[in-house]
Amino acid sequence: MMKKLIAGNWKMNGSLAANDKLLKDILAGLSQASCQVAVGVPAVYLAQCQALLASTEIDLASQDISAHEGGAYTGEISGAMLKEFGVRFAIVGHSERRQYHGETDEVVAVKAQRALGCGITPIVCVGETLTEREAGQTGEVVKRQLAAVIHTNGHCISEVVVAYEPVWAIGTGKTATPEMAQQVHAVLRAQLKAASEHADRIKLLYGGSMNAANAASLLAQPDIDGGLIGGAALKAQDFLTIIAAAA
Ligand code: PGA
Repeated sequence: MMKKLIAGNWKMNGSLAANDKLLKDILAGLSQASCQVAVGVPAVYLAQCQALLASTEIDLASQDISAHEGGAYTGEISGAMLKEFGVRFAIVGHSERRQYHGETDEVVAVKAQRALGCGITPIVCVGETLTEREAGQTGEVVKRQLAAVIHTNGHCISEVVVAYEPVWAIGTGKTATPEMAQQVHAVLRAQLKAASEHADRIKLLYGGSMNAANAASLLAQPDIDGGLIGGAALKAQDFLTIIAAAA
């Protein structure tokens, strides 16, 4: 069986002092993680976290990556730059970036391509809004979002991680039930299988109010291979409990 992946998404939270404490507390409680663990930190803290995580089992993730390789793109951070700081995963197409920064399916697909081109594994986020779910469009929406990434990345699609994050569940305390999440994961798995003979090794994460109490039942679903954790990743004990549930 493939190892599960538990990835924290700190979003725009943290400080030098808070990051130091959080990572030290997590490392102190981590007993030979039998799943893969990563933390997605704000870009300005990559150097600090790289130093704190050097020769540990925790990988570093960025929360975004530029769709451009380099040049006159003020404020952007390229894959090559992220790579210099030991970044192993890049979250791409998070719903907050789609919503507040106008990222389209096409931009997200190119960002995934840039990551792969630098040897960084993109964690591609897909997910429907509440309105879309209520209109019965969940399957259609996530398939459209994933199709763009498949189209742009061809056979490299087997190298990505996909995170299903229903927008209505993010930061709201409303979690998809394990059955609801599994249903969408099965749709995504089928789509990936049609695109790649190696689809079985693609990790499908669930994200959206995953926490210490509900992680085990979500992670027990056949097509849920890990979690992308926001709020609960900022509390060492909660993050550790989720990691333990993924063993
Ligand atoms: P949440 O965030 O766990 O706080 O709902 C998940 C995410 O946005 O990745």
